[in-house]
Amino acid sequence: MRRSFSTVRLTAAALPLALAVAFSGPAARASTKTSVPPLMHMKVDTSNLANLRTGALYVLHRCAACHSIQGTRFSSIAKQLGITNSEMQKYLNESGRLVHDTVVTAMPKGIMKQFVSITPPDLTVMAEAQSPDWLYTYLKSFYLDPTRPTGVNNVLFHNVAMPDVLANLQGLQSPVIKEGWLYGQPAKVAMGVKQLTKGTMTPAQFDQTAQDIVDFLYVVAHPHAKERAALGPWIMGLFGLLTIFSFLLYKVYWRRVDTSHERWWNHR
Ligand code: HEC
Repeated sequence: MRRSFSTVRLTAAALPLALAVAFSGPAARASTKTSVPPLMHMKVDTSNLANLRTGALYVLHRCAACHSIQGTRFSSIAKQLGITNSEMQKYLNESGRLVHDTVVTAMPKGIMKQFVSITPPDLTVMAEAQSPDWLYTYLKSFYLDPTRPTGVNNVLFHNVAMPDVLANLQGLQSPVIKEGWLYGQPAKVAMGVKQLTKGTMTPAQFDQTAQDIVDFLYVVAHPHAKERAALGPWIMGLFGLLTIFSFLLYKVYWRRVDTSHERWWNHR
């Protein structure tokens, strides 16, 4: 009894501490508060194979120059895009790697670290780590910033080390500066972008391309989403069936057991 009482007291003492730890995260982050604009919204659509193939083309030809996507293989991507392995090798895989290899960037590890002092992160679960809306906004929000080594900065990702790798398609953008917060200090921050020069694509075409890229990254991050959705009703049906059978079995077991003397009202 005494022990259980002290356990209760200990728990009661630990609870505020646990709560303090749990809520200290946002509080600590608040001191590095940086203003970011609201995300642009896109609807993830993974059913259009033509769009997914376009996305795959850009990701494998451009993004994979720096980023690895080691959680997937060229052959798995081919399957998701509905193309054969030889088509994958012919049109999409320019890395010289075999079709069953994982998607590893050709960029030697140390090089990006040397140039921009960070190794580009793996993109396999990027659509999960960041939301699709975040990725979409990120890809559209690079702007010219002569103070940065790459010449560009990003509205969503302050002082980003990634160059604007889609600039030739989108054109260059200048920032829309507003009063806001930068790492906890009031400051002028870029809260949006303005088109400065024309790219090879119209804005609508570029939006579509950015969506295709995000859709493809979403498929890479959720490789079994389709099977999962198709399997769900069957699994629920199976559980339903099991419930019926186990109820019938319960009835059979207890049919011949006389429990009348065990009723609580017989013990009074
Ligand atoms: C020239 C090399 C290079 C290319 C090409 C490149 N990136 Fe990056 N990327 C980087 C670097 C470096 C970072 C790290 C930025 C940082 O942490 O400051 C990065 C960061 C990112 C991030 C942010 C991850 C995070 O930390 O939240 C995303 C998303 C991303 N890249 C997507 C892409 C996509 C999509 C493409 C293709 C359209 C692409 N990248 C092409 C170098 C590159």
